[in-house]
Amino acid sequence: MTRAVKALAPSNIAFLKYWGKSDTTRQWPANDSFSMTLAQCRTETMARPFAGSDHVVQLNGTTISRGTASGAKIFKHLDYLAERLRFSDRLAITTHNLFPTGCGIASSASGLAALTLAAVGAWSESTSLDELESKDLSRHFLADLARMGSGSAGRSLFGGYVQWERGATPEEQDFRPLHGADHWRLADTIALVSSAEKAVSSSSGHSVAATSPFFAIRQSGLTERRDAMLAALTARDLATLGTYLETEALEMHAVMATMTPAACYILPQTEAVIATVRRLRRDGLQAYVTLDAGPNVHIISTQEDQPILVRHLQELHPDLGLLLDHVGPGPELLPVEENARA
Ligand code: DP6
Repeated sequence: MTRAVKALAPSNIAFLKYWGKSDTTRQWPANDSFSMTLAQCRTETMARPFAGSDHVVQLNGTTISRGTASGAKIFKHLDYLAERLRFSDRLAITTHNLFPTGCGIASSASGLAALTLAAVGAWSESTSLDELESKDLSRHFLADLARMGSGSAGRSLFGGYVQWERGATPEEQDFRPLHGADHWRLADTIALVSSAEKAVSSSSGHSVAATSPFFAIRQSGLTERRDAMLAALTARDLATLGTYLETEALEMHAVMATMTPAACYILPQTEAVIATVRRLRRDGLQAYVTLDAGPNVHIISTQEDQPILVRHLQELHPDLGLLLDHVGPGPELLPVEENARA
């Protein structure tokens, strides 16, 4: 039996945003969030037990160590998982993003979800999600482990549309799959405005979010917005969902831009793409924008309208890179053949 496993975990795009934590150590979000799991933007991670003094990690072809900025989050999460699950084997890990590297979609959601699945799979000698489940390593438990590496990674453990509920205490926070991918075939067309490394990481941004004078105002309206957005999602009402989607993303960026220190992710071309989408909408195309902690624009439409949207974007912004994605089924865990080992 092989003990090398491969995890494929998707990224997700939040419709209702997680921005700010009530407790950083316990990764307790300040508010509920929900997202659409993507199909194409995925991270592939292979893991196998390894007889060495420390884990060996290769990220997008480069060996990284504990001391480096990119290694810190990965090694910290491996240490957390090993301690919580009482596994002591060192692991050899190879991980790479299946979306173009350096395109500015540095997804900690897919990365930390894939790392969690691959490491737990290798340690527990499990080569499928069903096998993990049969060993009391349920999808909910894995999501809980993944969110300790990166909050948004917990949502990537499920396909379709997924809510992260804050709960009344850190122990009560939980992930709730809302609808499968078949509920509504929405597309995410990602306009690649900049591939530069972001100056302020999400994690450091979360820690100062509450310094924005708009943070408390945002929080006070989020329950009502969440309920309206969830009702629109259930009813497949894109005009209503999309209107909230834009307000939500721009409000989060207003908080980001007014925190101390501030994080201003929106660039002139971000604004230009938003203006284009709004103009196309006035001409009858149902497309709405949302943004993560970065300048790239996620344009949400139905999958049927995606080709029309892409044609317009290519005409109006010929130099803009586009990634075409859509709602997806969630992560996978597979055995690795001998000759393809990490
Ligand atoms: C803007 O999950 O990357 O994408 O928990 O500190 O790792 P950490 O933060 P992260 O934050 C994601 C923030 C966001 C909104 C969202 O995905 O909900």
